[in-house]
Parts: sequence; structure tokens; C-alpha cells
Amino acid sequence: MSTPQPQKVGIVGAGWVGLVTGACLAELGHDVVIRDVDETRVAALSSGEIPIYEPGLEACVRAVGSNLRFTGDLAELVEEPRVLLVCVGTPAMYSGDADMTAVHQVVAELAAAGVPEGTVIAMKSTVPVGTGSAIRKELDERGLKHVGYASNPEFLAEGTALKDFKNPDRVVVGGDDDEAIDRVVALYDGLGAPLVRTDVASAEMIKLASNAFLATRISFVNEIANVCDATGADVTEVARGMGLDKRLGPHFLKAGIGFGGSCFPKDVSALKQLAGNSGYHFQLLNAVIEVNELQKRRVIGKLTKHLGSLRGKVVTLLGLTFKPDTDDMREASSLVLASRLIAEGADVRGWDPVAVEQARALLPGVDLFEDAVAALEGVDAAVIVTEWSHIGDIPFAEVQKTMRTPLIVDGRNLLDPAELRGLGFTYEGIGRPSA
Ligand code: UGA
Repeated sequence: MSTPQPQKVGIVGAGWVGLVTGACLAELGHDVVIRDVDETRVAALSSGEIPIYEPGLEACVRAVGSNLRFTGDLAELVEEPRVLLVCVGTPAMYSGDADMTAVHQVVAELAAAGVPEGTVIAMKSTVPVGTGSAIRKELDERGLKHVGYASNPEFLAEGTALKDFKNPDRVVVGGDDDEAIDRVVALYDGLGAPLVRTDVASAEMIKLASNAFLATRISFVNEIANVCDATGADVTEVARGMGLDKRLGPHFLKAGIGFGGSCFPKDVSALKQLAGNSGYHFQLLNAVIEVNELQKRRVIGKLTKHLGSLRGKVVTLLGLTFKPDTDDMREASSLVLASRLIAEGADVRGWDPVAVEQARALLPGVDLFEDAVAALEGVDAAVIVTEWSHIGDIPFAEVQKTMRTPLIVDGRNLLDPAELRGLGFTYEGIGRPSA
């Protein structure tokens, strides 16, 4: 990996994308200032506290030293020309459309602050197609014709974000101003990634379509798993056999209890609404969303198959975050599952290696544990919700003796069914044959 020509970079938003991107760009040698409106967050970051759990991030921030600074003042980002990466949230609204309030606020603030010649604004936030051209118009109307604009979507996944940044499958930059595109492309020089240099609208669509297609693969394999459940095939074997076909590839074929997180649910819905607002009914995405909703509930059927009514039964959810190696609980399957179980009359316990604190506010009525063995003592069933590697360290031979009913519903097909059945457990996976 060679290093690029250092540039001055400003990042708007010290959320997960802004922090990871800022730290990695600083590591590449760029001079990075990150601005956030949350002064408490800025103070914590300035004193070396990292408010999110992302493997390697804390060490990276420490290592880059003064190449990475934090501020609450937008004026600092426009004191001199920089590439300004917009990394603010675009959460789903009730309508399913992306909420663009924060993006438009940033543009308004930049216009008010006065942006110097030579500044390029690059959009990293995931936005509906058409946002770039609307922002270009807004910039022009607000007297910022001299400011360049590009779309530069991010493809980092939580838990592996630093690795993803350093080994990108591609860098996508869309724009209609060659100089602006060149400046953004040059940030990533030396990473050796294939470059997709394109127009703004196509760059915006590449991001939405990539996430929607990955989500489609997951819902597809989940439906295959459900048919496996009904017919006796093993979805893990099916996915292995499918994945060896080079045209299909092995990724995102892990069946389970559905996708969550801050990206897939929101982006699939945003693309569906974008299509609808443009007069096109995107039927396939409706199915992707519905399959995902129902998939989270399949656990209930598997529990009642063995336990009958769940009223008064004690069920432990192993893993509460939407995936391992993150403390993020947004759209996590645990949220739906816990409330569904409570509605069925079960007593619900939850264990997670990093997110017990976050879970307190989000899972009222769930008894939370930091120790998995204690969380499983005396219970009627364990449900694997998140495939944390820590679950492999649980001494299942001992736990089998302390559970009231030794039933495991493995919502991520993490464990070896034969091994667990050998220990005396009743094991149910998703799309794996019952014994
Ligand atoms: C996703 C994309 O993978 C990133 O490329 C993208 O940049 C990011 O969204 C974003 O838009 O910011 P992320 O949400 O962090 O990243 O997590 P993924 O690893 O993609 O997993 C998403 C969900 O799908 C998780 O709940 C995971 O458990 C589930 N999943 C994933 C499956 O159920 N099966 C699979 O085979 C893969």
C-alpha cells in the first residue's frame, strides 16, 4: 500500500462512518478535522474516548495523533480549502423515505459559513438518487458555484470497517466536475482499488442497489432455508454448493433470522420508496422486506414445537446486537424477538458480550446478563440471535445440566448440531434437518 499525496480533509459528522473514514484517511497521511454538533461527543473524542465499538478503531485513532482532530465548530472546516466529506445520518422516516434533514442542514450551514474556493463537498451519506443534483442547484443558488460536488458512497461493514477501508472492492466517485472527482479519487490513492468514475446519480444508485441486492440474497437464502426446514435438506450444505458457482459466489448466503442494522432495512426501504415516488413499483423489494420481517419470528414456531405454550417459560437470547463485533442494536432481530416472546408470556433473558448497557433502554422487561453461563441457568431454551465467537467458548456440556430444558434454537446456524445433540441437547437450526 503506497501513501497518497496528503490533502486537507474535513468530515461533517462523527458517527460511525465519519469516525472510521476520518481515522483511516488520517492513517493514509491526510490532515483530517472531524466536526460534530454534539459537543459532549467532541470533548470525549478529543480526550481519546471512542464512543463506538469497532475493532481496531481506538488503536488507529491513537496512532494517527495530530493528523486527526475533532471540533464542534463548522467554521474550522472552512478556514481553508478542504475536501469535505458529509457523513451525517439519513434515517428512515415513517414513510420509509430517507430523512434528509441533516444533509440539507449541512449544506445550509456551509453556505452560511462561507466556503473558500478550492473546496469540494463529497457525499458519503446514503442518499436517494437525485440528491446530488438537488444539492448542486442549492449550492449554486446559495452563492457556492465555486464549490465542487461529488458523490462518494461508502461500502464499509460494521465490525470489519477498518479492514474494508484498507482493502476496498472498489472506490466509487460520481460527479460532473473532473477536478472535484480527481480530488476525491486522490484521497484513496495507493489502496489499489478498482475505480468506478461515473455520474452523480449512478454513484448514488450503486450504493442503494448494492445494499438492496445483498439484502435480497439474504432473504432468498432464508426462504431456501424455510423450504429446507419443510423438506429435510440442510441450507448450510445448499449454500456451500451454491457458493462454489463463480457466478453466484459464497458471500451473503448465510441463512438465519434475518438482516438488521442501520443500513439494509433503511436502504431497502429507501430504494423501494424512491422507485415508488418515481412511478415504479419495485415488487421484488416488497418481498425482501416481508421475508425479513417474518424470518425474525420463525424462532417462535421452533420454540413452541418443543415447549408448547411459551407462557411462563424462560428463554435466553444469546447475542443482542444486529451482528457480531459491533455494539449496534439498530434493527437487531433481538428487539423483535424479545417483544414477541414477552407477548407470548415468556420470561426473557438476554446476554451480550458488549451491548448490555445499550440493551437496558432498548429491551425493557428483559433480564440482562454479562455472563452467558449464568444467563442459561435454569432456562427452558437458549436462542442464538447473534453469532458472537464468544458463544463457542460456552461450556455446553456443563450448561446442559443446569438448563431446565436443554433446547437450543440456533438462529444463525453457528453451532455443530451433531456435537450438541451428542451432549444431550435438542438442537434446532434454521433450515437444518431435525434429528
Ligand atoms: C452493510 C454492507 O455490508 C456494507 O457494504 C455497507 O457499507 C453498509 O451496510 C452500509 O450501508 O453502511 P452492515 O450493515 O455493517 O454493512 O453489516 P453486514 O455485514 O452487511 O450485515 C447486515 C445484516 O445482514 C446483519 O444483520 C447480518 O447478520 C445479516 N446477514 C449478513 C445475514 O443474515 N446473512 C448473511 O449471509 C450476511
